[in-house]
Amino acid sequence: MICLFLSIFSYFFQTALTGVSERTFIAVKPDGVQRKLVGEITHRFEKKGFKLVALKLTQASEDLLKEHYWDLRSKPFFTELVSYMNSGPIVAMVWEGLDVVKTARKMLGETNPADSLPGTIRGDYCVEVGRNVIHGSDSVLSAQREISLWFRDNELHCWEDSSSRWIY
Ligand code: RTP
Ligand code: MG
Repeated sequence: MICLFLSIFSYFFQTALTGVSERTFIAVKPDGVQRKLVGEITHRFEKKGFKLVALKLTQASEDLLKEHYWDLRSKPFFTELVSYMNSGPIVAMVWEGLDVVKTARKMLGETNPADSLPGTIRGDYCVEVGRNVIHGSDSVLSAQREISLWFRDNELHCWEDSSSRWIY
């Protein structure tokens, strides 16, 4: 009985209290898919220790992209951005783990690849801001909004990651 209580407490502590269950939305943009970077990018997130919760190859509609980038609707590059993101399939993913939103943004690098350090995804694989191969949510709140925009609940998978006790 005590053991059961301790294991439930430990699971609850690990997931809810420590922030291990934080999620972010990551998308390999059409240029990243065309340039065969999907494997490399997913490999980086897996090696880091994050847990894959959802993944799909999808052709996004203009409406979905406009909603996704709603905050940027008044920017001069908005139309070009939507057309770029609509130019081919995207690999949409949800990754889970401690501080995953902030850490993923660091793994991505800066918006402009020229400002991105070597070792980051944008620093290693692209040169132009309008072809910067990957998207990542910029806050926990936008991650929640984006995940619900791109995925239905039954596409988000709960599974026990056997390596988690070696990571946390
Ligand atoms: P993302 O949302 O795609 O992860 O990129 P981000 O947060 O680093 O940058 P954000 O300001 O949200 O911009 C979204 C995407 O718009 C394109 N962009 N083009 N021509 C330009 O000056 C310009 N600025 C931004 C980029 O593809 C950027 O990732
Ligand atoms: Mg952004």
